Amino acid sequence: MGRSLRVAQEYIQQVKSALRRNGYPSQKAFATEIGLSLSTVKNFLSGKPVDYINFVEISEKLGQDWQEIADKETEIKANNNHIEEDSPFVTGPPITHPRHFFGRQKELKRLFNLLKRHPLQNAAIIGERRIGKTSLLHYLKNITTTPVKELRPNQKSDWLPNPEIYRWVFVDFQDPRMQSKERFLTHILENLRMKTPEPCDLDNFMDVMSDNLHNPTVILLDEIGVGLKRCLELDDEFWESLRSLATNHTGGNLAFILATHESPIELAHSTGHSSPFFNIFGYTATLGALKEEEARELIASSPITFANDDVEWIIEQSQCVPLVLQILCRECLFHLEDGDTDDWREEGLRQVEHFNHLKSG
Ligand SMILES: Nc1ncnc2c1ncn2[C@@H]1O[C@H](COP(=O)(O)OP(=O)(O)OP(=O)(O)O)[C@@H](O)[C@H]1O
Ligand SMILES: [Mg+2]
Repeated sequence: MGRSLRVAQEYIQQVKSALRRNGYPSQKAFATEIGLSLSTVKNFLSGKPVDYINFVEISEKLGQDWQEIADKETEIKANNNHIEEDSPFVTGPPITHPRHFFGRQKELKRLFNLLKRHPLQNAAIIGERRIGKTSLLHYLKNITTTPVKELRPNQKSDWLPNPEIYRWVFVDFQDPRMQSKERFLTHILENLRMKTPEPCDLDNFMDVMSDNLHNPTVILLDEIGVGLKRCLELDDEFWESLRSLATNHTGGNLAFILATHESPIELAHSTGHSSPFFNIFGYTATLGALKEEEARELIASSPITFANDDVEWIIEQSQCVPLVLQILCRECLFHLEDGDTDDWREEGLRQVEHFNHLKSG
């Protein structure tokens, strides 16, 4: 998430003695054990900023509550920065900050139910282009560990009983680097902070994962169709290994969630794959429009309140399709901010023309 945290002054002594209390003879020994560089560990122990993910990991390893020991001042400054730079409406790129994500409560409930009990279970997210698949993957990964003050008031985030023990890896198969088997396997191990073997082939990868994966772990596979169509290296043997990792070798601690615009089984067939990997997705969430009340919440998040008839017009025209909602809200807000007399509705309709197919009926 590109955010850093530091240990608050009053806790520095406490974290230093936690190192000894936990039996680490030196900072170096601790760094080696946790798989981070010595300088990161030194920065942590001396109250200098370290990357958010590393901060959480070191705190846990030392038996500390990361939210308690984090310096609130730096966090607040970082947040102010973040919010000031935010656009009120995100119209195109996937939503990465949970604050901008609306709705999908039913799907989220089902998905987190599969992840909060043992064994973790797999799921597929299906939906047309631009409907919000990637945004949902990012939301799953980030919502449970985003500080409440970065969220909207009343935005639910307590989906998991112990979010800090979960490990998440996001894989985008549109990224050409993920078309190489070795790069893909390395990407996963690095994100899980596991040692990358030499060579990082399927056998060695399987060994490292089955020996070291003790925390609940979710691997998010975005645009899996591209992986199947374009990446010859990702063959049946590769997918079968992933399946056996999840089902037999990680003690129920590993789940895959994939996003695609077709059903995974049909996708496997149509790309000539026979792999049973695609049969392990017991739950499928099909994304469509938002519920009306969810759409109204999105509209109400505007920094300038819209007139009632504008709200009704946006609901009707968008049919609650999130991207269309976002674009119409953006146009309405521009109009209010600039105070111009042009017909913003006409402009709005022109802007959403390409996305009308996302509306049902
Ligand atoms: N839950 C949501 N809340 C608010 N806006 C959303 C939500 N989901 C999607 N959007 C809107 O839809 C746009 C596209 O979302 P996203 O990139 O996640 O879709 P996608 O299904 O992954 O698209 P593609 O098939 O092109 O990869 C976002 O820029 C945003 O405007
Ligand atoms: Mg996407």
